[in-house]
Amino acid sequence: MFYAEVKVNYNTGEYPVRMYSDFHGLKKELEAIPQVSRFIIISERSISQIYNKYIESELKGLPVPIDQIFIKGSEKNKHISRMKKVFNELIELGADRKSVIIALGGGVVGDYAGFIAATYQRGIRFIQIPTTLLSCVDSSVGGKVAVNVDKGKNMVGAFHQPELVYIPMFALSTLPEKQWSCGLAEMLKHSLLSGGSMWQDFKTHERKEIKVDSDILRKMIIDSIKFKASVVAQDEKESGLRAILNLGHTTAHAIESLTNYKKYSHGEAVSIGLITALILSNKIGFSFDKVDTVIRIMEKYNLPINDNSKPADILKHMQHDKKKEGNNLKFVLLEDIGKSKFGITINPKEILSALKEQRKI
Ligand code: GLY
Repeated sequence: MFYAEVKVNYNTGEYPVRMYSDFHGLKKELEAIPQVSRFIIISERSISQIYNKYIESELKGLPVPIDQIFIKGSEKNKHISRMKKVFNELIELGADRKSVIIALGGGVVGDYAGFIAATYQRGIRFIQIPTTLLSCVDSSVGGKVAVNVDKGKNMVGAFHQPELVYIPMFALSTLPEKQWSCGLAEMLKHSLLSGGSMWQDFKTHERKEIKVDSDILRKMIIDSIKFKASVVAQDEKESGLRAILNLGHTTAHAIESLTNYKKYSHGEAVSIGLITALILSNKIGFSFDKVDTVIRIMEKYNLPINDNSKPADILKHMQHDKKKEGNNLKFVLLEDIGKSKFGITINPKEILSALKEQRKI
């Protein structure tokens, strides 16, 4: 069943994000893409094992070949050194400039397959089929694709927009709790930035109501995508406004690297990072007065608000941030719900004091 569509506009075009109940609809969507020589699904073996039977039965009869390339999942494997093998496989399969890559999976697969699509033969088309909540509401939308190098996460990448984002909602039924938290935290971030009904939804609803086949989950996902699409439409390449989407990410990246990407999902680290940003919004930037309200919401949704690392260690890891200016760091802060400011310079002493305050919660 088809549920909803959001159009994403960017500098030189637009594409739809279409939400369906399952894979019935994919064949029609793929048939509508013009001049395709072949489709190549890039996915993790474990993900493909879950969905292959649905995809195969849906896509049989398409007039072009469909091949698969497997990559290893996890952030550790989203590494530039693993790209060579995939490029060679694409050449062996006979992939040409009319071939279309299908990224089937979560954020790691989307980033990796998207960057392969951005660079193979100087860029070919690709489609995102996100299978996690985080990738539905965030990473599959907006065209940021990247891989890691030894010295940093997402340090090599591109802005390469997909032709289509196809959301099969039933994929979320296999998600573990941690992955739900991961997506919900990024959705909460969008709601803090946008305010309005998204914020009201987070205040009104409970985590147990967020079920795969519920109207409220579909609404919250669509609203989250609409919000992200509106930001991307104004600033595709992050020359300004798109930076607001980094709310909470300075602490999040530091905590992820401090805990070796093992303890938290990305979204859970963002959840902790949101609290740092909100304390700073209250103490330094503005007089943001809803820190406690947000903490109550996070508790209600089972999202982490704190990590037990030493504040000084978190600060040390923050110093690797791309947005560093001398020893100072650039933060996104909130004046109020729905009113954000990016590029606010904060010195290490103020950050340390916010992290110490956060430890006391
Ligand atoms: N996830 C942040 C962005 O797409 O800009």
